[in-house]
Amino acid sequence: MLTPNLTVNASGHLCIGGVDTTMLAKTHGTPLYVLDENMIRENCRGFERVISEEYGGKGLICYASKALSCKELYRVVDSEGLGCDVVSGGELYTALQAGMPAEKIVMHGNSKSNSELQMAVSHDVGRIVCDNLPELKRLDQIAGAAGKTVNVMLRIKPGIDAHTHDFVKTGQIDSKFGFALETGEAMQAVKAASLYPNLRLVGLHCHIGSQILDTEPFAEAARVMLRLMNQVRAELGITLTELNLGGGPGIRYTEHDDPKPFGEIVRAILAALKGICTELDFPEPFVLFEPGRSIVGGAGLTLYTVMAKKVIPNIRTYVLVDGGMCDNPRYALYHSEYEALIANKAGQPRDERVTIGGKCCESGDLIGEDMPLQAAEEDDILAVLATGAYNYSMASNYNRNPRAEIVMVRDGEARTIVKRETYADIIQNDL
Ligand code: LLP
Repeated sequence: MLTPNLTVNASGHLCIGGVDTTMLAKTHGTPLYVLDENMIRENCRGFERVISEEYGGKGLICYASKALSCKELYRVVDSEGLGCDVVSGGELYTALQAGMPAEKIVMHGNSKSNSELQMAVSHDVGRIVCDNLPELKRLDQIAGAAGKTVNVMLRIKPGIDAHTHDFVKTGQIDSKFGFALETGEAMQAVKAASLYPNLRLVGLHCHIGSQILDTEPFAEAARVMLRLMNQVRAELGITLTELNLGGGPGIRYTEHDDPKPFGEIVRAILAALKGICTELDFPEPFVLFEPGRSIVGGAGLTLYTVMAKKVIPNIRTYVLVDGGMCDNPRYALYHSEYEALIANKAGQPRDERVTIGGKCCESGDLIGEDMPLQAAEEDDILAVLATGAYNYSMASNYNRNPRAEIVMVRDGEARTIVKRETYADIIQNDL
């Protein structure tokens, strides 16, 4: 199986966290997102363990809300000692409502509105990562009006081309995010930020991309950022004390993926950081990481009901399910690959090759193509694996499909953490 928390029981059914997925489908309906709480907790602890073992605990793991934001998930990561990053007023609101301490929240966004900045300032979020010069100016005014000094980090493009999908690369010069290093823009931004009376510049941030499978781009980013901090000290006499290295460790979506475990990635980053600090005689900064996918991605799966099978001779076989791009737009957007299996036939070989089609009125509404699958029949339960990240959070009401329910399983028990939307929910803002 793709992840160790997935097993097959005596009836040949797929189980997650000890819970039979076919029972979940029966009691909660489909489409259904399922999250394994123990695996999420273990992932949180895995990150923290490396920081404490390799870096004396001088850091904070801020779960990246964009991977999946809902109140119960914030409660879980908070109880494991993590903070979170948010990238919108909506994520910030959800985190605060769930009781996430504001000082452990990092506020992101390349186009934050004044009201989002005001919200962050009035709740005293721990750090605001500024993306551009107009934002710095607006934030200074907003902080001044509130009579506060806010902790600011600057988002830097370190010029590193991580090997991942073009749409999820963010660290290279041609990116809408942050200040470029090569052009001198980054130094100018540091200078500007340090002069605003209501901003306290605490450090720098970078995020080189997502679903990165190797350690070296991360280690290189750490070295590049530290050199910039050293340049800031030399040229401006400012010693920045914090470095936020973003998120990005990849996960196993299919049996062909072989990502470096995130523990190994963080260990390599911290080793690179310590090495460059010694070399430059620079005090080791407080580090922040913002993992999203590697915390929740592999801990989730989605269950669908097979509605029909359509064999197009010599072309392909469609297995049609009761969800699709409205709950998982990642194949339509990035051609992302997934493993799928028939949950009620999990013990049988996957000896057919199929295209999984969704219910949306769009030919591109697919979960995947040329996927190995057990022989599917009407009313079977299809499980798509590793859907914990960027599925629910990117879901839509396209075709006015209600967003699916999320259940969390733990030690053989399941509980609903996000209710299924109703048709009434869908029209609630229609006048
Ligand atoms: N921090 C920042 C500033 C980010 O921009 C991101 C992701 C993260 C942290 C978390 O990255 P992670 O650890 O999850 O890789 N929708 C795309 C992924 C977009 C990621 C954008 N930023 C997908 O479905 O693959």
